[in-house]
Amino acid sequence: MRLDTRRTGFSLEAPFYTDPNLFNLDMQGVFGQHWVFACSVAEIPEPGDYVTLDYGPYSIIILRNDDGGVNVIHNVCRHRGARVLTESQGTTGNLVCGYHSWTYSPEGDLIHASAPGEMTFDKSCYSLKRAHGKIAAGLVFICLAEEPPTDFHETAKIFEPYVAPHELEKTKVAYQQNIVEEGNWKLVMENNRECYHCDGHPELACSLFPTWGLTDETIPPHLEDVWDRNQQAQASLEYRCRRYGLPYEVVEELDTRVGGIRISRESLDGAGESFSADGRRLSKKLLGDLPDFRLGRCSMHLQPNSWFHLLGDHVITFAAFPISATKTLVRTTWLVADDAVEGVDYDLESLTHTWKQTNLQDKNFVELCQQGAASPFYEQGPYMKSEYQVEAFIGWYVQRMREHVG
Ligand code: FES
Ligand SMILES: [Fe+2]
Repeated sequence: MRLDTRRTGFSLEAPFYTDPNLFNLDMQGVFGQHWVFACSVAEIPEPGDYVTLDYGPYSIIILRNDDGGVNVIHNVCRHRGARVLTESQGTTGNLVCGYHSWTYSPEGDLIHASAPGEMTFDKSCYSLKRAHGKIAAGLVFICLAEEPPTDFHETAKIFEPYVAPHELEKTKVAYQQNIVEEGNWKLVMENNRECYHCDGHPELACSLFPTWGLTDETIPPHLEDVWDRNQQAQASLEYRCRRYGLPYEVVEELDTRVGGIRISRESLDGAGESFSADGRRLSKKLLGDLPDFRLGRCSMHLQPNSWFHLLGDHVITFAAFPISATKTLVRTTWLVADDAVEGVDYDLESLTHTWKQTNLQDKNFVELCQQGAASPFYEQGPYMKSEYQVEAFIGWYVQRMREHVG
């Protein structure tokens, strides 16, 4: 592995995208060590609600507990290792393994195992293994490390004032999409961290200004009009945010902290309300007690596996869960106000249209790169100026892996 000689500003060497051994190292050094976005509270609103997450070699139960927090439990029975919960989501009291009925409390303690003739069996030695969980502004994060990185509370302090006004606790899942992309998880993240390719997203381009990552100096002639419109929309958005006391400033610490983050509130084109062709709202119900639909998009990027768009009328969360060196699950979840009624306040097809199309286009881009990485003629290519977040992601990754391998 060539972490020490990584060429700054260039994509990684091919094995980082293709080699199962390097994938295993990623699972230890990144997904086994760092805070990973798991789901939002809207997916597990009541005590006993759970989701299971499988990524790399891990299977994790995230269970909403009576205290409003989460119990994060390894989904590996302490008897013979069977998966205890086999559904991807549900509601449960105790956790009962389907193989020999060992029964665990929602905290993971073994409370019942039939043991005829066993004289010395000590239940207290066989609790399910626990991991760390945190809820911040309605977003659920988990960390499998014995000692999680300590700067995550600072990251949460950065994003809470942006995310909290959308009140995720008062949202519901309108739709969830799982796509398996035939690509390494880092290619999924790289693709997400730039809009250099956004010409390939006609639906998204209606509402998202395709000038992301560009500046006055780097705007190409064909985007000058869009740039002007963008500047004006941004100025009026910032004016409204100041009036409502909503933060909008860019905070960018993608590779300068372990809990890498970028967050901002940015204008949308057209009516500036939502990801629709004309920028108008896609759900009639405002989230939380937000004062206005015209709030653009609060967009957040977190290392290593997630990105988010929070709008006045809905929220979309995105998470990448690696499956193998060349396969990644990308989960997109659309949240609307919990009292919004499908067919009355929102039309599911319209609500999900832009990002369903965009996700399919992105899947295709990622898969094209994965195919290229497998070619003996693949060579590392340069990230362009507008791809600085891709460089920040790879820089963050290389740094974490160097720390991991010592
Ligand atoms: S493997 Fe779970 S009870 Fe036997
Ligand atoms: Fe894209």
